[in-house]
Formats: sequence, structure tokens, C-alpha cells
Amino acid sequence: MIKFHGYAEYLLSDAIPEDKKSILDKAINELNNDFLLRGAKKRDEAARITSFKLSRNKLILEIESGSRVRLHHAALRIKNYLSNMLGKNMRIGVRGLRLYRSRITIDSILHVSTQLPFVKNVYTENSKTIIELKDLSESDIKRPIIDRLLKLLEFKEKKLKWGGKIEHWRLIRESEKKEPKFRDDPNIILEKIGWIKRYAPGQWLYTPPITHLIRSFEKLFYMEVLKPLGFIEAIYPKINPLEIGVKTGHLKGTVHQMMFASQPIAYNPEDLEEWTDLVTVLDEAPADELRKYVKAPSYFLCFAQCEPFYWFFGGEIIDIDKLPMKWFDRSGPSFRWESGGLRGIERLVEFHRTEITWIGEPEQVIEIRNQLLEKYRYFMDKILDLEWRWAWVTPWFLVHAGEIEEETEEIDINQPGTIDFEAWLPYKGDREEQNTWLEIGNISIHGTKYTSSFKIKHQVKDKIIWTGCSGFGVERWLLSFLAQKGFDPDNWPKRVREFITRPPKSVRTVTYPKTKEGKQLLNEIEELLSKLPGD
Ligand code: SER
Ligand code: ZN
Repeated sequence: MIKFHGYAEYLLSDAIPEDKKSILDKAINELNNDFLLRGAKKRDEAARITSFKLSRNKLILEIESGSRVRLHHAALRIKNYLSNMLGKNMRIGVRGLRLYRSRITIDSILHVSTQLPFVKNVYTENSKTIIELKDLSESDIKRPIIDRLLKLLEFKEKKLKWGGKIEHWRLIRESEKKEPKFRDDPNIILEKIGWIKRYAPGQWLYTPPITHLIRSFEKLFYMEVLKPLGFIEAIYPKINPLEIGVKTGHLKGTVHQMMFASQPIAYNPEDLEEWTDLVTVLDEAPADELRKYVKAPSYFLCFAQCEPFYWFFGGEIIDIDKLPMKWFDRSGPSFRWESGGLRGIERLVEFHRTEITWIGEPEQVIEIRNQLLEKYRYFMDKILDLEWRWAWVTPWFLVHAGEIEEETEEIDINQPGTIDFEAWLPYKGDREEQNTWLEIGNISIHGTKYTSSFKIKHQVKDKIIWTGCSGFGVERWLLSFLAQKGFDPDNWPKRVREFITRPPKSVRTVTYPKTKEGKQLLNEIEELLSKLPGD
């Protein structure tokens, strides 16, 4: 049970003349016995004006309400009623509305923090939680802040109840066991031979030979999976305005992992001259000082990579014969801030991914997901010959939006959800150990998660549109391939061996690769890769 109590102050364009004041009694009567009951089955679910005060052009109403006609909805309804009634009878308008000393009483003990927006005070009394709110302006009431706050409370309670159990993982398919051809750690080898060089934590420069392998894998994936299924390439922006992250939910669920970008305070170089002087004199860039010369962040760096796809169709009405649409993007990196656990190209801050996105009617979205699954199985099994497994997991699009899905007994993969693809990394240990497996990609059906927040509409009323996306991290792909097959093409499956041509020359200088052992290893690996066909 939930109850509301508060005071609504209406600012009138003029004072109500003394002799007309009785009109208010009549109005309140009508409101209490009709307008404020509408939409509620029982009287205690509705709203009620319990007292009023009129001082000059301020009308203050004390309102109590139940769950159906909530205090703030009642306040807005009253405003409409008064505008109409006072306008008609006395040509008086209602200029503004403010809610103050509002109180929500909930029939259970909740864990509400006073740090929550718009919350002034919280206390419990007789097993009830009483939340006192700060003043709310008319626009706050309309947004509607109170409803969102209540949703947030409900969510937080659920999270508290579900605790750590919200992440689920259920095996749905696995390849046969494949004897690994290699046991060493490619991360260490790649750095030793100088193919990759650490730029900053979680960021690498990929030199031409490894870039060649990465691009070859991307191409092979395109040829074997995307092209036959009719996916076409698009280029998605890689920094997103903040409002995109509100619609996708990322700014609620993953803000602790995101990287942000800001604009400078001015375009005119003179406005930043003090900074320029400072860098000149210090010969370094003190980040704390830089804060003064950049605006607050207004972008987040590409995180899920599919965000712009939903934005593109946002607000559009789509005719049925244009559906489904199937695009992919591989135009640039994604960024995830990782505070630790970084290792080679296994876990990165800047990584590259082929992101596959599609939109259509629910049946089409499911059908495309199934076609992709079939091709992925073929690609992982027959083309790359990996040891892999698939799991039905907590949908990332809910996790990213800070939402919770309760675990159910039954799984139905034709409902919105996510499947993760994992590959075994023999260098990490036994395949029976959970932490020796690496997520190399995923595939999801989002249902209406994005079509509703971006307002993507079907041409036919009452029909809905779904979306799906799937991402493959190319570094992880290459890593799991090298981890299971190594650098000798004789141990590679036929199609890969024939498709990938000899990589370009490795970088060798007086001081690079750094160690003698690295130089030696590089010679050996180049020797092995020279078995590959030339361009
Ligand atoms: N966008 C999805 C994700 O972020 C798939 O790449 O996991
Ligand atoms: Zn995606």
C-alpha cells in the first residue's frame, strides 16, 4: 500500500473576488466526488482535497491520495479543472503550480537513502517507510519525477533482494573436445616478438603483421557469415552524445566503465593561452589544470557499438516491406574502462569488434538470430575449428541499463535475451575450470528495449518492432585461435590456412624487439608463417 500527502500551491493571475469565493467550495466538492476519483476503483486509491487556503492570488490545497490517482497526477488534474473553471467564470488563469511538503508513505520497511534525488528525509514508523520530498516544480511533476523515483526504489529493493544472484549463466551448446595444438600464452609471445606494443593500460599499437591477421579474420568472418546472410556495411559514429546513453540506459548501468569526452571551453586559441603557456614552461600536461580548459563531458566513447543504429531509426515509422534491415559496423574501436585485470589482448580498454545489427518484426528478428547462430556454429566449428561453448546469460542490454532480470527455471531462447560465445584458452589451464574460457562474442534479441526508448514505430498500428545485435571482438577471436592452434599454419584448419596470406615484414630495429629471446622467437614465427601463400 502506498499513500501520498502534500500541498499544491497554484499561482493565479488575479485574486478571486470576496463575493465569488464560495465557488471554490463547490469546485472542491466536484473535484473530490468526481474528477479525483476517475481511474480508481476504490475511494482510497483515489485523491482527495482535505483542506484549502486562499491568500490573495495563491491557492493552497492539501491533498491526500492513494496509488491510482497519485498526488502529483491529482495536482495536475486540479490545475486543468481550475484553469477551465476560473477562466470561464472570472477570466482568471492559473499561472503556476508547485508541490511542497510532499510525503510518500509505503507499507513496508524500505532501504531508502537520503542521497536520492528529490528526497529530503526518510524515516520509518510502525513498519512503514515515510519519504519526505523536496519541493517539486510543475515541470518536475510532469516529467514525472515522483513516478520515476518510485520505480527506482522498487528496483533498488529488488536488487537488494536478488543480491549477487542476478548474473546467470547456463550452458546451451558446446563443441566436441579438440586436442589443443598449442599451450603457450599468445599474449606474452605477441609482446615479446614486438608485434604489439603497449600504448597505455589496455591499449596497444598493432604493427602491420598482426594487423594483417586481424583484418584477415574480419574478412573471413564477413565472407563466411555476413555476406551469405545479406548483411551490409555501415559506418557508425564512435563518440555518442549523452542523451543516447540515457535512451540506451548505459548512463545508468555502466557509467563506472565508460570513457567520456569533452569539448574545449573555447575555439579561440587565446582563451586557452594560459594553458598553452603552462605546458610550454612545464613541458608536461597537468590533467588537473586541464579541467579548467575543458567543458563538462558531453559525449561517451563507443561502448556497445550498436547505439547509433537504434538512434538512426528513432522517431521513424517503418513500412513493412522495408523490414528487416541488416547492417554491420567495423569502422572503429569500442572503449571500456577496466580498472584492473588487464592482460595482453585478452582484456582491453580499447578494442575492435564487428558489430552486427538488425531490425524487424519479432519473427524476423528471431529468424535472423537463428540464421546467424547456425552460421556462427559453422564458422567456429568448421572454419576456425575452435573448442567453443555457448551460454544463455543475463542479457547485457539489461545489465548495461542497470536493470534486473529475475532468474526463471525455463529458458526460451526465442524471447529477448543474450547468448554468449566462449572459447577455451588452453594456456589458462584445464577446460573444466570456469576461468579458462573467454567470451569472444555474443548475440542478443532485445525485444522492444530500444525500439520503445528510441520510439521506432511499425507502420501498422499495434504491431511492434524488435531489434537484435551481435558483437565479435576481433582481438579475442585472434587470441583464442592462436591459443588453441598456435603459429604454425600446418596446425591451422584448411580454410584459414588457404585464406590468410603471408603477413608483411615485422618491425626490427637496433633496439626492437626488446630482448634477444624476442628476436629469436620472431625469427621462428616468421619462418613458420612463411608457409602461408603470398599475396
Ligand atoms: N553491443 C553488444 C555488447 O556491447 C554486442 O557487441 O555486448
Ligand atoms: Zn550491440
